Amino acid sequence: MKDGLGNKTMTNEPVSYWSDADQGLRAVELRAAGFEPTEAAKTNAVVTIANAYTNAHRCNNRVRRIADLLVEAVAAKGGQGLLVGAPAVSDALTQGTDNAGYSLVSRDLMADCMETGHYAHHGNAMIVVSGCDKTGAAALMPLARTNAFGLVVYPGTSSPGRVDFEPWASKGNNLTIMDYVEGSAAREAGRITEDKLLSLQRCVMPGSGTCGAMFTANTMSTIAEAIGMILPRGASHPADYDADSDIHDDVKHQAHASVDALYNLTKLGIRPRDIMVREAFENAVVTAYATGGSTNLYLHILAIAREADVPFTIEDIQRIGEGVPLIANLQPHGAYAMVSLHNIGGVPVVMKALLEAGYLHGDVMTVTGKTLAENLANVPLPQDIPNQDVVFPVAQPLAAAGNHISLLTGSLAPESGVLKLSGKTLEAGEFRGTARVFENEADAMAAIRGDKIVAGDVIVVRNVGPVGAPGMPEMIQLTIQLQGRGLGKDVALITDGRFSGVSHGILVGHISPEAAKGGPIGAVRDGDTIVINPISRRLDIDIPIEELATRMKTPTTPDLSALPAGSVLNKYRRLVSSAHYGCVV
Ligand code: FES
Repeated sequence: MKDGLGNKTMTNEPVSYWSDADQGLRAVELRAAGFEPTEAAKTNAVVTIANAYTNAHRCNNRVRRIADLLVEAVAAKGGQGLLVGAPAVSDALTQGTDNAGYSLVSRDLMADCMETGHYAHHGNAMIVVSGCDKTGAAALMPLARTNAFGLVVYPGTSSPGRVDFEPWASKGNNLTIMDYVEGSAAREAGRITEDKLLSLQRCVMPGSGTCGAMFTANTMSTIAEAIGMILPRGASHPADYDADSDIHDDVKHQAHASVDALYNLTKLGIRPRDIMVREAFENAVVTAYATGGSTNLYLHILAIAREADVPFTIEDIQRIGEGVPLIANLQPHGAYAMVSLHNIGGVPVVMKALLEAGYLHGDVMTVTGKTLAENLANVPLPQDIPNQDVVFPVAQPLAAAGNHISLLTGSLAPESGVLKLSGKTLEAGEFRGTARVFENEADAMAAIRGDKIVAGDVIVVRNVGPVGAPGMPEMIQLTIQLQGRGLGKDVALITDGRFSGVSHGILVGHISPEAAKGGPIGAVRDGDTIVINPISRRLDIDIPIEELATRMKTPTTPDLSALPAGSVLNKYRRLVSSAHYGCVV
């Protein structure tokens, strides 16, 4: 369909101008692609199976199996499931490298691929199979954008592991990739033996799946369930039993149930924008805070809200989130792996506690075709589930409200920055330290490894924002090094880049405007005093404002012309908004 200007408009249903003669051409095309034209003509729906499959990493390597299962299930209902691919970038494989910027870039690229395939193949509906961090974020974007009947299927998180030596033995069967990377840094600092590191390497992740606790991928699956776009208990299952097994039975169940749900949604006329309404976004923020979600939720919720045409600002996230207690005892702030949450009932247990305490809107629609309150009617409260401390009652939380992620502003963050404390409080009420400035992650890493960072320092990594990097890479390797060296409580890290969900410590990311756009973080010098105050929600440099203004007249911006004109990074650099607006393009 075209508007009065001849531009293609977003329609919910495909419109065909093909004549009878053209149908012959279609038959040729279908037959050549392996479809029987007369059978295809009988189909009751073309369902886009949008998936970011790759065999390159464990986060998304089960996606193809699930996508094929969905095609079969759709066929059994008389429909035609058409696979649409998209690139899946693993943060684990790109962090700490020159290619780390491709991770966030891939979020929007994936959404574009799924939109393109859906319309080009004349889809009536869409099921998105999401996996690693940015695929999870991207999963909701094409559904909100196209408003095609649809929902999300999560491939699953990695099963946890265990070892028999301390400090990891006491965690039981809850080890995740975080335990390996922190063990690796501990080994580098001489705090554990090589044998123990090898045991961790072999044991922490027995099979496929996303990083196994409340890191970014599970934050996004939790948000997708909380917003109503994944079936209940569909955000927390393990991907498989081990690397040699088939996908987990719970994933198979979710896949089949999701196709049933899709046809039910079609029958009821319920589309994604009927589900992803403002109240559902508020539910997503509440649930993400209550579970200790990753700082990346700030970027992705804003991007998804824009796609759904729901006015939602970064201040909305802060305002809603700051009133929510932390009740899920999950890594990185807590003790348990995601599968431990799944085993006691999954995200619905968290949401039931929040609903009963008045934190959630119960009357919003979900992909079950029922309201959230109806979905949760028979779910037990955490205190009624025996022998568990994975989810705490709201009245006795793991940490009181206001101690997880906070939005800061101040002389170093005129738009905003995001502070992650994950339940910790700063003993002095604020962190006041000495700036150690680096123009990239590698130089900061060399300083840490060279024992040049000491207690009381504030590491400043700049020119790694959405434009500067480009792609706003995650400074996870730095945070792991700090934790591994026992400096997590004594050294702060501030940056215009991002953090992984695995990261914890005294961390401020997403500082906007970024250095490459003239933000004041570009004016910090070695030796300046930096003040992080979670109570007043301020990030400041302790120099006279006139001095800061003088320094900002000579910004330290990088060469932005170095990328090939046609490259995806160059296009991204030209289009991307600041982190304050979700890095949307
Ligand atoms: Fe893929 Fe963590 S690296 S989910």
